[in-house]
Amino acid sequence: MNILSPSLLSIDFNNIERDAKILDKSGVSWYHLDVMDGMFVPNISFGPPVIKAIRKITDCFFDVHLMIKEPIRYIEAFKDAGADLLTIHYEACENLTETIAKIKESGLKAGLAVNPKTDITVVKPYLSDVDMVLVMSVEPGFGGQKFMPVAIDKLKWLKYNLNPDNPDMLIEVDGGINFDNVNIVLEAGANVIVAGSACFNGDIADNVTRFDKILAG
Ligand code: DX5
Ligand code: ZN
Repeated sequence: MNILSPSLLSIDFNNIERDAKILDKSGVSWYHLDVMDGMFVPNISFGPPVIKAIRKITDCFFDVHLMIKEPIRYIEAFKDAGADLLTIHYEACENLTETIAKIKESGLKAGLAVNPKTDITVVKPYLSDVDMVLVMSVEPGFGGQKFMPVAIDKLKWLKYNLNPDNPDMLIEVDGGINFDNVNIVLEAGANVIVAGSACFNGDIADNVTRFDKILAG
């Protein structure tokens, strides 16, 4: 089963509750929440207090994408805010094994993300441990960028290198996904599709329905 994870970076911040209700009514089950620290990426978005506020208006699964340096410092804060899954960046952690272990010890699911320039094979030692690998298909930091095809071979590599001890590991793709290229990433092996501008530009309910039809195959 494929999952749509709308990125709230593109939501109308003056109307979060209104648009979250539209998402939920349209059948969305995941929210992708992009946390940026202005250090790991050249942009600042939002943190635990905002996630906590959104937690009060939906029961959806919170897929929290941490684009922050040394996320190990904030695992408890994001857990308290209502996160379900914390995805950390390979490039942002000094001790990845410890960071992943701490996320799982806290009772949350753990994801591991790689930037477009990072070789996908670096995730191999972690494929038995993590619940999801996130392939970035844009340089992290901003919504509305163009999809980078370098992601396609990485998705294929992940699909063929799933660890037999962890066959249900999810494969997520994030950045520049739209109605024209979503089939390509699904075929390559992605089963969690992040979409920001393609979900929130125009009619949200129509966009979600259109994605859901494609994701259902
Ligand atoms: C980028 C974020 C993405 C972004 C996706 O750093 O991780 O989740 O919001 O937005 P679109 O779908 O517009 O590329
Ligand atoms: Zn993201």
